[in-house]
Amino acid sequence: MTEVRGLSLSPVVLPEVRREAGVELRKARLEDVDAIYWLIRYWAEKGLMLVRSHSHLYENIRDFWVLEDEDGQIVGTVALHVLWRDLAEIRGLAVHPTRQGQGLGRWLVLGAEREARDLGLPRVFAWTLQVNFFRALGYRVTSREALPPKVWSECNACPFYENCREIAVVKEFSPGASGG
Ligand SMILES: CC(C)(COP(=O)(O)OP(=O)(O)OC[C@H]1O[C@@H](n2cnc3c(N)ncnc32)[C@H](O)[C@@H]1OP(=O)(O)O)[C@@H](O)C(=O)NCCC(=O)NCCS
Repeated sequence: MTEVRGLSLSPVVLPEVRREAGVELRKARLEDVDAIYWLIRYWAEKGLMLVRSHSHLYENIRDFWVLEDEDGQIVGTVALHVLWRDLAEIRGLAVHPTRQGQGLGRWLVLGAEREARDLGLPRVFAWTLQVNFFRALGYRVTSREALPPKVWSECNACPFYENCREIAVVKEFSPGASGG
């Protein structure tokens, strides 16, 4: 049992998935919310992500992308949340533990970036403990102060408010570039 500011979280057991199953990236649907919830909660229990409530997931479902495998299992998720005219946050990034290291995290982030570019956003950022993963995708570490106060919109509700270890990473898109 993990304790996060008085909340007890029971250990999460994710459905078993096949590492070699084919995968498709698509926008999330309401029926995916349970799977997204458990995937994020699995990693939250390990201290790597913030728990997202069902309420949050339903309200923000249009932000989410999922990777669904050919057996119908959700093996990855990510969200793009627009904060302002020139800034969006990549959040809720999680890959099933059986499918780590196969390029799925990269695929999810590039999918969210493509959506950001299509919307006309010049940059995206993320709060993360996986700085080197984001560096491999062209992000750079930035100071909290270099980002507008809007980026702290969720901090007040965060159980790690006084003990935040997350690092801000940002990626500026070059005009005309298509990805990577
Ligand atoms: C972080 C996470 C999304 C990465 O997904 P993944 O599918 O395992 O990563 P990929 O296979 O797409 O890796 C892409 C690149 O990043 C590198 N990488 C992946 N995880 C890394 C890590 N933890 N540290 C350093 N580099 C990493 C890979 O080597 C690869 O680089 P390459 O293309 O030069 O070989 C996944 O491990 C995860 O779900 N972690 C737990 C939850 C979490 O921390 N989420 C992030 C919240 S911001």
